[in-house]
Amino acid sequence: KRPAGAPDKSLARKVTKVGVVGAGLMAGQLALLFARRLDVPVVMTDLDQGRLDKGVDYVHGEVDKLLKKGRVNQDKANHLKALVTGSLSKDAFSDADFVIEAVFEKMEIKQQVFAEVEAVVSPEAILATNTSSLSITEMASKLKHPERVVGFHFFNPVAVLPLLEIVRGDRTDDASLATAFATAKKLKKTSVLCKDAPAFVVNRLLTLFMGEVLAAVGEGTEPEAADRAVAPLGLPMSPLMLLQLVGPAVGLHVAETLHEAFPERFAVSPQLEAVVKAGKTEIFAPDLTIDPEVKELLKGG
Ligand code: 3HC
Repeated sequence: KRPAGAPDKSLARKVTKVGVVGAGLMAGQLALLFARRLDVPVVMTDLDQGRLDKGVDYVHGEVDKLLKKGRVNQDKANHLKALVTGSLSKDAFSDADFVIEAVFEKMEIKQQVFAEVEAVVSPEAILATNTSSLSITEMASKLKHPERVVGFHFFNPVAVLPLLEIVRGDRTDDASLATAFATAKKLKKTSVLCKDAPAFVVNRLLTLFMGEVLAAVGEGTEPEAADRAVAPLGLPMSPLMLLQLVGPAVGLHVAETLHEAFPERFAVSPQLEAVVKAGKTEIFAPDLTIDPEVKELLKGG
């Protein structure tokens, strides 16, 4: 069944090579997924060799895990490793027909990245963004061919979570959107078409859950209790665990974007700001108790 709002699939173009801008954790997860499900070469780029090597090593490590679990055989593992390569130059994208960026969540940086990619790819190559909350229309606005830009928003962990928010910008054309939906299907993701509005759909809900748990903690409920109180809702993960999974800085960025867009509906938690300012990336200690310093910050201490 065609997903609601998806254009006719006959408009979709073929994807024969994928580019991933960035070699961080999200980018690595994307590179592996595209290589595994599309069976095409995937090239990653980043700013320096160290980051690039780390990204490619991550992918190879994940392939080894798949091998150990028996999900792929040795030949397939070797093949997947060979498909994913790294390059410091975006020229490596010149024959890519689908490029996805997963770089720092800042509009100017993403616009710059897309401009650099556009300079080397064909006019029809799709430029996709994994942004969690920024405007697709604005990201495309400085390009010669803004009609090829689509939002392609995955959820962590990418290999496991089935959902993909596909976002149409004001100028995205049907062929690009059809290519995005066809690609999502090959990736075995359940895609939903979202309007280009701040944080789309899912992150609005997650931000509300997190925000209210943090607010309860600020009012004096113990963090563990506030976090656990949400368990009857049947979420696969508690809000504070989720905050650790996506990273406090990403969580804060989404909350700030939503607060800016809808100040009456979304607040920015001062405790979350304090956690990020203190440079904390983990909420929980390895024994799954809340890190004592983080606990003080969450309580507003
Ligand atoms: N990378 C790859 N695979 C992972 C993984 C990771 N980081 N974490 C877990 N997995 C795999 C495990 O290997 C396991 O695979 P297997 O069945 O092949 O062995 C499978 O997931 C299940 O893992 P576990 O048995 O260890 O643990 P759980 O059953 O508790 O599941 C979970 C873990 C899948 C992470 C689950 O807790 C979950 O779905 N959590 C909710 C995550 C969520 O809501 N994410 C959305 C975040 S918002 C976002 O990303 C948007 C962004 O813009 C902010």
